[in-house]
Amino acid sequence: MSHEAKTNYIGGKWTAAQAGGTFKSVNPARTNEVIGVFARSHREDVEAAAAAAQAAYPAWRRLPAPARAAILSRAARLLEERKDAISRQMTREMGKVLTEARGDVQEAIDMAHYIAAFGRMPNGSLVPSERADIFCAAKRVPIGVVGLITPWNFPIAIPSWKMFPALLAGNTVVFKPAEDTPGLAVTFVETLIEAGIPTGVVNLVTGFGDEAGAAVVESGAIPVISFTGSTEVGRRIAARCGQLMKRVSCELGGKNAIVVMDDADIELAVKGALWSAFGTSGQRCTAASRLIVHRHVRSAFRDALADRTRALRLGDGLDPSTDVGPVINRRQLDRIHGYVDVGRAEGARLITGGAIVSDDPLGEGCYYSPTIFDEMRPAMRIAQEEIFGPVTGIIEADSLDGALRIANETGYGLSLSLYTADVRTAFRAMEELDAGIVYVNLPTSGAEIQLPFGGTKQTGNGHREAGWMAMDYCTEWKSIYVNYSSSADLVRAQIDTVEN
Ligand code: NAI
Ligand code: MG
Repeated sequence: MSHEAKTNYIGGKWTAAQAGGTFKSVNPARTNEVIGVFARSHREDVEAAAAAAQAAYPAWRRLPAPARAAILSRAARLLEERKDAISRQMTREMGKVLTEARGDVQEAIDMAHYIAAFGRMPNGSLVPSERADIFCAAKRVPIGVVGLITPWNFPIAIPSWKMFPALLAGNTVVFKPAEDTPGLAVTFVETLIEAGIPTGVVNLVTGFGDEAGAAVVESGAIPVISFTGSTEVGRRIAARCGQLMKRVSCELGGKNAIVVMDDADIELAVKGALWSAFGTSGQRCTAASRLIVHRHVRSAFRDALADRTRALRLGDGLDPSTDVGPVINRRQLDRIHGYVDVGRAEGARLITGGAIVSDDPLGEGCYYSPTIFDEMRPAMRIAQEEIFGPVTGIIEADSLDGALRIANETGYGLSLSLYTADVRTAFRAMEELDAGIVYVNLPTSGAEIQLPFGGTKQTGNGHREAGWMAMDYCTEWKSIYVNYSSSADLVRAQIDTVEN
């Protein structure tokens, strides 16, 4: 992108912020490496984007759904062709290792294929009437302009979960990506443009949350908001949308746990814990930051996990020998380290990690050593608050009931897992674990797009993304009644037809 930072895409044109402000995106593996300079948008830019989206809405809504779907199919093919380049760009802009970046892009490809198929699926129901010669049906209809506010940890996948269903349903979009990954948002939108998305249907405004993001929430031209990010910001957005009577779906934090029972395959459970805790440097909403382990197997599990954790190689995600990349930025690095200090002060026992890496060459980036606490207790802050970094802790349990209770004792409800060899224990877990996603003998991360994704309690506000309900958040149901009787009699409903 040029020095003018024309990174806003509004009404079919790449433009700079009206006030002319810019900001930089940097590589978290070496923060002196600048990825690009981007438009720092404010209210006037968001309003221009919303107006363009409003203007494009009537024609887009009227386009037959299979034609809208064909554009998503082309986007899937273009993303496939560019998967290597986009994945490398992702590792450079936000740090996750290349195999994970490829997985992120693949999710968008899968989502595009999956949602495109809905373009030829039933879009409503025919329903019998209680009256003669009355036709009844209900159909799904779009709402208008959808505002998308997304985080940096899945910079292609999360926008695709929100945007593809919105577009297929006939909505137009204003997209405000995270300030840490604006370059990937530009690439994503460029791909949609090449796929043939009409002018004004997708609009991009880059910038900060309290400026561009807040303006998306406030805009009178945007009746639907979909947000993924921190619970703190989600709570504020949901409250404001309540006042404005806007539709809002929030996908927020997690405090996910893996339960390891005494009959579990310990080797399998250790591998699952290692991946759940340290994959994406712990920066997944599904990361396992609590390991609830039966006391009979706690020391064996802990020692095996600690050995494998010490063997993890930190480094640039582009290096194929790297297991764990940097965290997103200095602010998060300090926040993570602050939580480790909290854990120490609360009396949890640090068994490995617990430090910002400062030696060369990693010291130029945002690296945190993978960290395990033992003797964590359920009420500790490190067992209750989302840390969003490579930090996990072991809590001892002495029974299945106790372990399930501890697992559920958190304000969040995204992803919970249990390892066991006993089918009865597995079914208890499926019943009792209070979360949107439950795994048995699998890590807490690893959702597939054809199943609903989202959480209970403070993880969200009751919505799900992906799956066959992917369009729920951005559509309304319209019920339709048609009288085709040749009689002139008025036949009413909602009235007692028994005369007395
Ligand atoms: P954040 O919640 O501040 O940012 C997420 C998105 O919301 C970004 O696009 C941001 O620009 C926007 N935003 C921020 N403030 C806003 C406002 N007032 N109005 C409208 N939009 C706003 O998250 P951030 O700062 O990137 O990370 C902080 C913490 O959030 C992390 O440590 C983690 O705990 C949590 N988080 C959780 C995620 C998850 O997947 N569960 C994803 C990202 C962050
Ligand atoms: Mg960056």
